Amino acid sequence: MSQYHIKSLEEYFQVYHKSVKDPETFWAEIAEEHFVWRKPWDKVLEWDFTKPEVTWFQGAQLNITENCLDRHLKTRPNKTAILFEPNDPKEEAQHISYKQLHERVCQYANVLKDMGVQKGDRVCIYLPMIPELAISVLACARIGAIHSVVFAGFSSTALATRINDCDCKMVITSDGSFRGNKTIDLKGIVDEALQQCDGVETVLVAQRIHSEVNMKKGRDYWLHILLDLAYKDCVPAIMEAEDPLFILYTSGSTGSPKGMVHSTAGYMVYTAYTFKNVFNYEENDVFWCTADIGWITGHSYIVYGPLCNGATTVMFEGVPTYPDWGRFWQIVEKHKVNQFYTAPTAIRALAKENLDYVKKYDLSSLKVLGTVGEPINEEAWHWYDDHVGKGNCPIVDTWWQTETGGILISPIPFVTPTIPTYATLPLPGIQPCLMDDEGNEIKKTKAQGRLCMKYPWPSMARTIWGNHERYRNTYFSAFRNHYFTGDGALRDSTGNYRITGRVDDVIIVSGHNLGTAPIEDAINEHPAVAESAIVGFPHDVKGTALYGFVILKETGAGRDQNNLRKEINQLITDRIGPIAKLDKIQFTPGLPKTRSGKIMRRILRKIASGDAENLGDISTLLNPEVVKEIKEHTL
Ligand code: PRX
Repeated sequence: MSQYHIKSLEEYFQVYHKSVKDPETFWAEIAEEHFVWRKPWDKVLEWDFTKPEVTWFQGAQLNITENCLDRHLKTRPNKTAILFEPNDPKEEAQHISYKQLHERVCQYANVLKDMGVQKGDRVCIYLPMIPELAISVLACARIGAIHSVVFAGFSSTALATRINDCDCKMVITSDGSFRGNKTIDLKGIVDEALQQCDGVETVLVAQRIHSEVNMKKGRDYWLHILLDLAYKDCVPAIMEAEDPLFILYTSGSTGSPKGMVHSTAGYMVYTAYTFKNVFNYEENDVFWCTADIGWITGHSYIVYGPLCNGATTVMFEGVPTYPDWGRFWQIVEKHKVNQFYTAPTAIRALAKENLDYVKKYDLSSLKVLGTVGEPINEEAWHWYDDHVGKGNCPIVDTWWQTETGGILISPIPFVTPTIPTYATLPLPGIQPCLMDDEGNEIKKTKAQGRLCMKYPWPSMARTIWGNHERYRNTYFSAFRNHYFTGDGALRDSTGNYRITGRVDDVIIVSGHNLGTAPIEDAINEHPAVAESAIVGFPHDVKGTALYGFVILKETGAGRDQNNLRKEINQLITDRIGPIAKLDKIQFTPGLPKTRSGKIMRRILRKIASGDAENLGDISTLLNPEVVKEIKEHTL
């Protein structure tokens, strides 16, 4: 029986059974056989969800980059590690071998050290999808600095919040980025952010678009100049298993973004293990995940998971629409991609376009298709299956979160029978359950409830940076002794899970996790706005889009409403980023509230979704009359 690479359903059940019966032996065997350690662990797992405290491989020492790079130098030095496909198809792709990547990471790590970065320091990385992004992540890990990658679509305010929250002393960015036929002035955004960040001592600037940028003396340095002078060898820092590897921010339903802290050993073992199984990766395959490294999907399944397995991982700088809607498929054909992993929102957008864009290219290299980030609707699932997979490629609908570090529920291709819209079965080591409204576990197999985890897994986040209490409250207080995911799910009679969506105030738009509170805060900053509430409503490409209900102050009453809408969306773009813009904005004299003053979002959600006839009992509201008014003016 192979527990590292599961090849049959029978094997899956055997492995799963073992992983639940004796999790410590299960994970110890995998960790021992497939990774390089400087010192073995004393204890595989210690946990207490009430605190919560979880440690995996306590006592072990390692460096994750030795696992991602050094150990492959003997076996596959010339194999392509990173295959970089630029934004412009006319620019040549770059094949960076394991040997070259090792050298570049070492050089880069030496630059970081020379610039005063030490083990445990936080480094903010705000870069486009160019090789320097993956290399800076690995260079931080090489010297034990904690990377905090911020997606380069976030605004300067959002960037500043994230830099300050974890006291980054360095920011790595580029002169700008290419996105389709546009360029974006990333350095300008960083300069603006840094006006609010006193702790940043150094900014390293990668050259990508060769634009004129402002370089602040004594703070800003061109990376290529420093790299030219740096040694190509760098002894890896010896890290403890539980040392933080990185921080990655995710939206909460309330308050500031949460800096999820991921550890070194557990994260490494779990992402590598799941990469191998969920994508059925074989030695000569070319794997492509279209996510940005600014999100957890990119961390785990563009960088760490693939490189730990000695894989070839594609990094794509551009967008699916440039130069035309055939770009994804052209790349699949060009690089003979074997595994393709994307988000349902991208599939829906591509499915709307002429099928000739897909038919034009040879997609016969594809073996496995994946989706992530939001529920996939049945229509999109079938389009993906029929037109991209040609009925031959299993679709892995992978459910997981920034907080989980790696995929928890997913089919294993060629092993688990797939069912459209179902993430199907838990991976080995994962013990999900459904809870009812009273906080009890639902034992019946066929059921619907709130999705929780009963038992720790190696790659779970260990805390929220600087706020362990918030970590406990958010994930471990709703259900005693359980990790609560924030998602609702249903389970069929054979145990397959289907994720139905968030049950809190997080809204997922085009696969991006957005909290309602920060967006409402941005809207309320507008001088003409008194109060606002946003909810999600179904959208055929984004999955869910944002609908804002806004109460104006007297000063706003006579203003042109379309101008106000533009100004509100501009504020959101400035404070958070364009991904959080509202599709619809309705001005209203009031918002439905409970007698304790809480906005009844349930009612707004129904109205926004065009389901205003079934609002249920509204008589207990403080102001039921406002509901009629809102209904009459629905957009
Ligand atoms: O609601 C679930 C949804 O995305 C949330 C996690 O978002 P984030 O932390 O940004 O991570 C996204 C990439 C891992 C989850 O709570 N979600 C993620 N994958 C799926 C999904 N919903 C349904 N099906 C999925 N496959």
